[in-house]
Amino acid sequence: MPVLLPTEELRPGMRLAKAIFFKGRMMLPGGKQLSADDIGLLRKKYPFLTAQVGDPILDNLVDFEDDDQERQVATTAQGKIAGCMSEVYERFSKRASLAGMDFQSLEDTTTQVIGYLKSNPVSAALLSRSLDPDTYLTEHAGNVFYLSMILGSAVRDYVATERQRQTSANLAQGAALNLFPLALGSMFLDLGMVNLQHLFDSKNPLTEEDRQMVREHPISGADMLPSSFSPTARMTVRTHHENFDGSGYPNGVAGNKLHIFTRIVRITDSYDAATAGHVYADAKSPARVLWEMTAGPYARFYDPVLMKIFASLIQPFPIGSKLRLSDGRYAVLTKYNRRRPFSPTVVVAFDENNQPLPKDQLDGPVCLDDRPDLRLQSYGEEDISYIYDMNAPRDDVRMRSDFSTLFEAAFP
Ligand SMILES: [Fe+2]
Ligand SMILES: [Fe+2]
Repeated sequence: MPVLLPTEELRPGMRLAKAIFFKGRMMLPGGKQLSADDIGLLRKKYPFLTAQVGDPILDNLVDFEDDDQERQVATTAQGKIAGCMSEVYERFSKRASLAGMDFQSLEDTTTQVIGYLKSNPVSAALLSRSLDPDTYLTEHAGNVFYLSMILGSAVRDYVATERQRQTSANLAQGAALNLFPLALGSMFLDLGMVNLQHLFDSKNPLTEEDRQMVREHPISGADMLPSSFSPTARMTVRTHHENFDGSGYPNGVAGNKLHIFTRIVRITDSYDAATAGHVYADAKSPARVLWEMTAGPYARFYDPVLMKIFASLIQPFPIGSKLRLSDGRYAVLTKYNRRRPFSPTVVVAFDENNQPLPKDQLDGPVCLDDRPDLRLQSYGEEDISYIYDMNAPRDDVRMRSDFSTLFEAAFP
């Protein structure tokens, strides 16, 4: 199984373990031996890409957890929902009315995706990204939908209990497991932002008027939905910026008073906004965002039980990641740690000069929980030693509606 390498580490002669896709198009087939030209092209056009490359020693010695199916499910579900979303948002960006909109096809797609995820349950959410500001809102909507479906499916039992408690009705079991309103709501969270597209294309700080419109987007979005729309889905849109500690907007409702769907989309929406590239702010890495949301300064905004499950589904580093240790050597990630995602199983396979270690000097596979002497230092260019910081400064207690940039409005 392959090691995941950024384009700057690729060398001629390396063999691609998997095909490289970009926006659904195959660029290089699996099995291809890379030429200098291939590498030059990848570096120039897609500097952020990573490629899975076969490793002659590790391939024979180590079993990697296989995440192929997760990748396929994500691509299929994202593709289905993206087509659906662009239609919806095009209508909205032209300020066309919702009257006459074909909601049936949207509902059909949603049913398809829920059914598909049900028969192909995933344990790792692998998202692909484009860095195109023009498609940000549609892509964001598709990602939040997908992440919410994965988290919602993973916590079905928890959802069922919560819904019983909140409705005090004796719901039939099937009704209690219904994720459909979550699906619809999660797609339309930022509907109230469609008339603010110009803010996404600019680095300028928000004016007071912009700020007011951003603050109102949960309400204005909910109001734009047609009267036939599911009331629970509408409620999810209206409350998607409410925080678990009561510091959110528009109403500052806290904790268990928030509907379970609100608590789910609060996590998925924040995570996707923070890890996507924007014109007005650089993307943060999944590792950074997961740490900030679970152990770091923003943990108090999110339901801790749901957040824990989300972190185990997302995982900070993909299988095959090459991680630099504090002693200078490099380890390759072979297996996720579901309970403590920042302590995966690794094999130390490269020396301080990034040269492959001979077979008899490989160390592992070993779970980092069992080896406190092996500490992670960096992943690619990023120093990740912050993951050991248990005393991260807490965010101050100001209300979150008091933001000054679009990024701050979306994350945390
Ligand atoms: Fe929002
Ligand atoms: Fe959002």
